[in-house]
Amino acid sequence: MIYNSPRGTSDYYGEDIKYIDFIIDTARNLFKIYNYLEIITPHFEHTEVFSRGIGENSDIVQKEMFTFSDKKGRSLTLRPEGTASVVRAVVERKLYVENLPLKLFYIGNMFRYERPQKGRMREFKQIGIEAIGCDNPAIDAEAIWLLNSLFKNLGFKNLVLYINSIGCSECRKDYIRLLEEFLKPYSKELCPGCVNRIGKNTLRVFDCKVETCRNILSGAPKISNYLCEKCSSHLKDVFDILNILDIQYVHNENLVRGFDYYTRTIFEIVSEDIDSAQNALGGGGRYDNLIEEFGGPKLSSTGFAIGLERTMLLMQDLSIKPVVIKDNMPSVYLINMSADFNGYLFGILKFLRQNKIICDSNFNIKNVGKEIKWAKSAGYSHIIIIGEDEVKNNTVTIKDLFNFSQSQLSWLNEKSRLINLLK
Ligand code: HAM
Repeated sequence: MIYNSPRGTSDYYGEDIKYIDFIIDTARNLFKIYNYLEIITPHFEHTEVFSRGIGENSDIVQKEMFTFSDKKGRSLTLRPEGTASVVRAVVERKLYVENLPLKLFYIGNMFRYERPQKGRMREFKQIGIEAIGCDNPAIDAEAIWLLNSLFKNLGFKNLVLYINSIGCSECRKDYIRLLEEFLKPYSKELCPGCVNRIGKNTLRVFDCKVETCRNILSGAPKISNYLCEKCSSHLKDVFDILNILDIQYVHNENLVRGFDYYTRTIFEIVSEDIDSAQNALGGGGRYDNLIEEFGGPKLSSTGFAIGLERTMLLMQDLSIKPVVIKDNMPSVYLINMSADFNGYLFGILKFLRQNKIICDSNFNIKNVGKEIKWAKSAGYSHIIIIGEDEVKNNTVTIKDLFNFSQSQLSWLNEKSRLINLLK
């Protein structure tokens, strides 16, 4: 009996791990530079955290959550995103008493019951940030700057940043009323999905991909014309800072996002190299009411998350290579010719590892020629062959796989030369 992994999940090994490590390392380094600290929250929460946080009428809560009862009948849900969990933790642990904004980042697996496709999975990884307790538009601009820098540092070029404002709860209410008035006469022409959204999650009609709906919506009133003065100047300030930073963006007046918690600035980073619904590599926005709704004080916040798998798939499609640490550091593959020499082998492995040299050995003893070939293809910079002569004479022969130079040294009194040869 061979078992398959569940639909929408994946196993990662080999090349994929190089990409995953590279993306995570690049993000961690950047987060440190922007002064974000890591937070780790559980993979599941009480269901209300998401149903209240994300919104009862959102697609995620309506259709996409992995919800189950525990043995005591409590409803739990595998997290579909990170923001609601982080906010729950911030309020529960009163983390907001620290210096604000509280700048947090997270890396972890998320779960959504979606129809799987390339770049759309049921279990996937997100890397995200949340800046809690700041209503200054400068923090929105800094978050967008960080998102943009992350993809630049990963090696991407043709990405577009879409930004919009969906206003505060006050001005949005008036706009939605207007939009609903506009849509009413089209109820027979709009797709069933859009008809269903009207009155519950009306703004999401802008996400519809059906041509007729798109044509109707092209004539719809734009929210940017109905923002209140404060929201309008907040957005202008975000744009002003992005201009100072020389960051290119598009004010996409049709951009809406699938969470009820958003207010004012929302943004997405999208690839122009793929023509698919899965072209959004990351997205985020401001949420000014969520912390209060979760029982905390009124703290305006902003954040974003990127999809790790989507990022990796696009890097692979565009032949953007991860920079692998091993490729730039000395690394030694020790080829042992007999299990009788294990004692000698382990002495050398121990010495190299104590000196922080990446090394490994052929624990299954096979053909030396094949092992050398493999070591080269795996990116090792050096090999050491351990045979009868080396063990008898207490020597180490080290070969540079790039320039084929070879050196021999005495294992008894020239150990440190081995490290010098590698550095
Ligand atoms: P989101 O746009 O739903 O935002 O997700 C962020 C990113 O996660 C997406 O741009 C996409 O790359 C990736 N993603 C989402 N769903 C899937 C999936 N089924 N399979 C693979 N990748 C996926 C959020 O989750 C918000 N919490 C972001 C945020 C943080 N807003 C404020 N703070």
